[in-house]
Amino acid sequence: MKLKTIYLCAECQYESSKWAGKCPACEAWNSLHEETINIGKNDTVAKISATARHTTPLSQIPQQTSYQKTGITEVDRVLGGGIVKGSLTLLGGEPGIGKSTLTLKICDALAATLEKILYVSGEESVEQITLRAKRMGVTRENIHLLGENNLSVIRATVANEKPSLLIIDSVQILKNDDVVGVPGSVSQVRSSTETLMEMAKTQNMPIILVSHVTKDGSLAGPKTLEHLVDTVLNFDGERTETLRILRAIKNRFGTTTEIGLFRMENAGLQEVTDPSKEILTERNANATGSALSIAHEGNRQFLIEVQALTVPTNFGYARRTASGIDLNRLNLLLGVIQKHTSINLTNQDVYVNIVGGLKVTDPAIDLAIAAAIISSSLKRPLKNYIFRGEIDLTGKVRLKTLKNNYKIAMAKVAMITELKQYLQ
Ligand code: TYD
Ligand code: MG
Repeated sequence: MKLKTIYLCAECQYESSKWAGKCPACEAWNSLHEETINIGKNDTVAKISATARHTTPLSQIPQQTSYQKTGITEVDRVLGGGIVKGSLTLLGGEPGIGKSTLTLKICDALAATLEKILYVSGEESVEQITLRAKRMGVTRENIHLLGENNLSVIRATVANEKPSLLIIDSVQILKNDDVVGVPGSVSQVRSSTETLMEMAKTQNMPIILVSHVTKDGSLAGPKTLEHLVDTVLNFDGERTETLRILRAIKNRFGTTTEIGLFRMENAGLQEVTDPSKEILTERNANATGSALSIAHEGNRQFLIEVQALTVPTNFGYARRTASGIDLNRLNLLLGVIQKHTSINLTNQDVYVNIVGGLKVTDPAIDLAIAAAIISSSLKRPLKNYIFRGEIDLTGKVRLKTLKNNYKIAMAKVAMITELKQYLQ
């Protein structure tokens, strides 16, 4: 074995012989990690010694994708119909967002039809998982637990037990003895994922692989593994709030346009079919800084409430905080408001929040964000309208109409300056 030290970028896999603060390829900061690799086997160029194989015309390959419905509508929708036999699904999300809770819920639902499910946890002890299961009312006998992080042991156990579904919680704790590096390093998570992919395919067994990802991407997570797996799901939300959104980032067996909604409650995750109802009953229509909008996420649309608060900056730099929307988007909208209306926000702290803890990526909620900011700044509540439209740099509003089932009129605004007429 001949070892060599290289530096790998956790974001784009760029390989460098020297360390650098910024990746020369994708320009991510602090993403180069030291890895030790074995270059012994690759010293000589391989000679072509393999025999050629037969190829098959496309039309003669049997279509064999079979979906196993989980029975959880919100999960099945995102997966494209259910979990596929022999597939490897990566479930990513920030620590504490509810990945383990979701996987346990999926186990419980699938245990009704599958023979045996193996839940391997290296993070939490089996006692901790049992406690969570009790809280969630999960009691099925055919869910087996294993506290283990050694990949060879997991492999041998799976070969022995032949589960119909394997859960690995999480990829960051897996230890592959054949690879140098600590658990969680790029080389470890990558080789472990490759092994799991091979296990899924050869045993025709679906695997759900949990993976942590932090906001700054400092852990080797979904980004590094995306191309190695069949499906990448992301579980998102504000940890302090209850709403959670499940999105498919990549799906070899379905679209990536569907989303699933959940609410984290004391007894686990509950499906949410319509988050709009609660928004309407809980919202105070006379409050300043509150605007309604319709967000279009995946193939679904729902009513959301955008709240904004503007307060004079105490000293120095004005603070801008965004929860549920992109901070860059907020800064851009503040720039547009500043430029095209007479409202001066340079000496104001601005806080924006999407009620319920949803993270919204639909740019058409721009108008509601701007309306909420203007409402808070001028201390006048908004009339009861839905604000929907994307705002461009010139202050023009690109209306993005949607079918509106909420019995609330849509504001008709062509320029950001016209928003004021909707103030009470
Ligand atoms: P968890 O699934 O452990 O998150 P992850 O695996 O993504 O790190 O759940 C995180 C939080 O969810 C936990 O801090 C408490 C909360 N929670 C509930 O509110 N209700 C529940 O029934 C469960 C199981 C967890
Ligand atoms: Mg967990």
